[in-house]
Amino acid sequence: MGFEIKRVGIIGAGQMGNGIAHVCALAGYDVILNDLVADRIKSGLATINGNMTRQVSKGLYSDAEKQAALARIGGSDNMGDLGDVDLVIEAAVEKEEIKRKIFAAVCPYLKPEAILATNTSSISITRLAATTDRPERFIGIHFMNPVPIMQLVELVRGIATEDETFELSKGFVTRLNKTYAVSEDFPAFMVNRILLPMINEAIYTLYEGVGSVDAIDTAMRLGANHPMGPLQLADFIGLDTCLSIMQVLHEGLADSKYRPCPLLVKYVEAGWLGRKTQRGFYDYRGEKPIPTR
Ligand SMILES: NC(=O)c1ccc[n+]([C@@H]2O[C@H](COP(=O)([O-])OP(=O)(O)OC[C@H]3O[C@@H](n4cnc5c(N)ncnc54)[C@H](O)[C@@H]3O)[C@@H](O)[C@H]2O)c1
Repeated sequence: MGFEIKRVGIIGAGQMGNGIAHVCALAGYDVILNDLVADRIKSGLATINGNMTRQVSKGLYSDAEKQAALARIGGSDNMGDLGDVDLVIEAAVEKEEIKRKIFAAVCPYLKPEAILATNTSSISITRLAATTDRPERFIGIHFMNPVPIMQLVELVRGIATEDETFELSKGFVTRLNKTYAVSEDFPAFMVNRILLPMINEAIYTLYEGVGSVDAIDTAMRLGANHPMGPLQLADFIGLDTCLSIMQVLHEGLADSKYRPCPLLVKYVEAGWLGRKTQRGFYDYRGEKPIPTR
């Protein structure tokens, strides 16, 4: 029998890390959820519990299945506890320096055949892989937010990623009941490369006075059948995140068509980052969202 993924370690218990732990445990994997901060593990586990309870009440699975899944997740703030996992998924903050440090810290504990994956949304897989002791066993497994709901996972091979790593990753995503799409390792991969310029263009449309916030969102919801308008979606993603992805595209592809809209920069400078700060293209402080322009 060849190598099989049975135990998964997740580094970073934030919104992505806890979502990844959630879907892995439900699929029958044993999970260790790691974070630098013990409190983040605690709140990550509480979030998983709450999200699973909601799914049980929707009839997606039974309470017994929920309990069994929760019992498969352990928390640890010690990287040494990742020694017997078969796959590590790094889902810590989007800072290259921090990711490099995490890989340097965890690799000495890992089995030689263990696969190391990153959930990065924008950093080059090839460049991250090159800093590790296992570029052949390194891959990008890019989940979408919120992980328990979104169907897609982007799989991104670095230049050195070997076929077995790729095949095992495909099997892993399939067992999570998700669908993968394979992307080459270029800035922002596929989903964000297409989605963010659309959002940026919606902000230019607002900036140039072609339409109001409400008119632009209504136009795209009813005219293009998008479930959310682009400005509403930008607020949901976070305007700081939108700006940093546009910067990655602009710098990484050196093409002026990716220049971030000055109005997006202004909102970020104001600290109006969308839902998470209660204000962005909409003001969320009242009962219902009110357009800010
Ligand atoms: N938020 C999204 O929509 C989204 C979507 C796809 C991918 N991603 C990517 O997923 C990753 C995580 O994003 P997030 O939104 O969950 O962030 P987050 O801020 O919610 O969580 C990050 C967690 O990492 C922990 N952490 C930081 N340094 C650590 C270390 N050295 N060791 C262990 N844990 C550490 C933090 O304590 C925090 O709990 C990023 O690379 C991001 O680009 C995010």
